[in-house]
Amino acid sequence: MYDYLIVGSGLFGCVLAHEIKKHGKSCLIIERRNHVGGNLYCEEKEGIHIHKYGAHIFHTSNKIVWNYVNQFVEFNNYINSPVANYKGELYNLPFNMNTFYKLWGNVTPKEAEKKINAQRTVIHGEPKNLEEQAISLVGTDIYMKLIKEYTEKQWGRSCKELPAFIIKRLPVRYTFDNNYFNDRYQGIPVGGYNKLIYALLDGIEVHTGVDYNIYRNEYKNMAPMIIYTGPIDSYYNYQLGNLEYRSLAFKTERFEEVNHQGVAVMNYTAWDVPYTRSIEHKHFEFGKQPVTYVTKEYSTEWVPGEEAYYPVNDMKNSQLYARYRTLAEKERNVLFGGRLAEYTYYDMDEVIEQVLSLVNKIL
Ligand code: FDA
Repeated sequence: MYDYLIVGSGLFGCVLAHEIKKHGKSCLIIERRNHVGGNLYCEEKEGIHIHKYGAHIFHTSNKIVWNYVNQFVEFNNYINSPVANYKGELYNLPFNMNTFYKLWGNVTPKEAEKKINAQRTVIHGEPKNLEEQAISLVGTDIYMKLIKEYTEKQWGRSCKELPAFIIKRLPVRYTFDNNYFNDRYQGIPVGGYNKLIYALLDGIEVHTGVDYNIYRNEYKNMAPMIIYTGPIDSYYNYQLGNLEYRSLAFKTERFEEVNHQGVAVMNYTAWDVPYTRSIEHKHFEFGKQPVTYVTKEYSTEWVPGEEAYYPVNDMKNSQLYARYRTLAEKERNVLFGGRLAEYTYYDMDEVIEQVLSLVNKIL
């Protein structure tokens, strides 16, 4: 018997397991995949850590969270500065003075601001769709070259059919600053994310290749309390219907060269290239290997049974989630947490914040 059974060895499950052990209690983790770490997991090839489930950059403004992860692993000084490729023209992201200079040749922030404001006024009244929303925030040029087709590839539909709420803000910076995030702390674990995961799991028993929903009878009595971090609809055997996601397909290539694209993240913002991003993993860790691995990321329609990446938080899915949530609140010995159980996109720092607050309540 254990004090807790944790379903899922993603960041949520691993931080929670570490805290449970630290508080003198016992736990067992079961994990459906054949490896631990959830979506942070990296595959190592020729000394390069390949972010198997999409690029992960740790960033936070929460000093408690930053100090927390730094107990387990050192972080490098990687700063995410993606580049947008629009039909072979390269633009710095996020939208900043370097982007504006390339677009219009503006040299002062005042000139760039004037240009954007003149283009924003094209839309009058409340934006009716994502296209109108984006133009009202950044004007037509940035929208046409850097947002429209990228967003359409991501969502698989026209920006005119997408709701305005998907884009709430589009940060525009009138400085020559290519740092994608505004957070105080940022970096990649030295030695890769697996090092962080293994340190969190030190001394914790984990059974991999075990899907709780298949082996429920064997495991449910192993602990008086279960923490479930898988998809909430799967826990209830989809009895109310499937929650929908956008999915991703990855195609990784090896190149016999030191440096393929000169940056870790390149966004392809036009339809002429079918993938949305290409990731050159070695740049996350300033790798000097003689070879390199590049992953093309394709945005795909999700079908039940495939990996779930981005929740579709529209009205229909939000209402369905609320119904599952009502069932979950009636459970006496099961708690639900993490991005899949809460049907919410969370960054890694938010997941850690949530676990630490849960720990304060239950331990
Ligand atoms: P996660 O999905 O990682 O773990 C859940 C685990 O439960 C999985 O291992 C799964 O196999 C297991 N499981 C599910 N059902 C089960 C069952 N029935 N039985 C047993 N096991 C089961 N964040 C950030 O801060 N910076 C970034 O750059 C990125 N980048 C990024 C890219 C992409 C493409 C995505 C989709 C997400 C990000 N994120 C991110 C977010 C980050 O991935 C997220 O915060 C964490 O993975 C959340 O950890 P969880 O443990 O909640 O879920």
